[in-house]
Amino acid sequence: MKEKQISGAVIARLPRYFRFLGELKDEGVEKISSRELSKLMHVTASQIRQDLNHFGGFGQQGYGYNVSFLYDEIAQILGLDHTHNLIVIGAGNLGHALAGYPNFEKRGFLIRGIFDINPGCIGSQIRGIKIRSMEELPEFVRVNRIDIAVIAIPKTAAVGVSQILVENGIRAIWNFSHVDLPVPEGVVVEDVHLTESLLKLSYNMTQETKGALRG
Ligand code: NAI
Repeated sequence: MKEKQISGAVIARLPRYFRFLGELKDEGVEKISSRELSKLMHVTASQIRQDLNHFGGFGQQGYGYNVSFLYDEIAQILGLDHTHNLIVIGAGNLGHALAGYPNFEKRGFLIRGIFDINPGCIGSQIRGIKIRSMEELPEFVRVNRIDIAVIAIPKTAAVGVSQILVENGIRAIWNFSHVDLPVPEGVVVEDVHLTESLLKLSYNMTQETKGALRG
C-alpha cells in the first residue's frame, strides 16, 4: 500500500484505532460500521472515514470495516507486522518500570538488554533481562541488531549516550530524559513527558471547575 504524506494528527490517532480494533477482534467482532466505531471511540464517523481514507479506506459501502483486516493493515502501517529489538538505558525507577512491563512484548517490542553505569545493579536482572555495563553497549547493539533504545537516564548524560547509540546503529530513540536529542537524519526520536500530560489534566480540571462555578 502506498502511503501519502499523512499529518501528524492522523498518525497520532492510529494507535487508538489499533487499540479499539484489537479489543473488538478479541471479542470476536468481525465487522463494524464507521458509525458504530465512532460511538465506541467518541469521534465522528466522518473523522474515522477521513482518517482511514489516507491509507486506502479499507471500508466497503454498506458493509463497514472488516475488523481483522483493518487491524492488520493498521499494524502494518505502525510497523507492528514484525518484531523490534529494544534496549533500555538506565535501570533506575523508570527503567525498572519500563523493563518490568510485559505488554511491550505482546506488541512485538522485545527488550533484549538493560544498561547502566551503577556497579551495584550491573549483573542483576529485571524480569529475567540482564543489566549490563555501558562498556558492553556498542558491541551488544551491533551484534543483536537493536533498532530501538529507551533512554531513562539523567538528562546530563542523555545526549552523550544518544550519540553512542546512533554511532552503533540505533535508528529510533524513545526518550524519557528531559532534553532534546540532536540526532542525524534517518534517526527518529519520540519524546515522552508524563508531567506534561499531568499538566494538561490539571488544566482541563481547572477549566471544568471554573465552568461549574460560573454555573
Ligand atoms: P533514577 O535515578 O532512579 O535512575 C537513573 C538511572 O540511570 C540510575 O540507575 C543511574 O545509575 C543510571 N545512569 C546515570 N547515568 C548513566 C549513564 N551515563 N549511562 C547509563 N546509566 C546511567 O531516575 P529515574 O526516576 O528512573 O529517572 C530517569 C530519567 O527519566 C530522569 O532523567 C528523569 O527526569 C526522567 N523521567 C522522565 C519521565 C517522563 O515522563 N519523561 C518520568 C520519570 C522520569
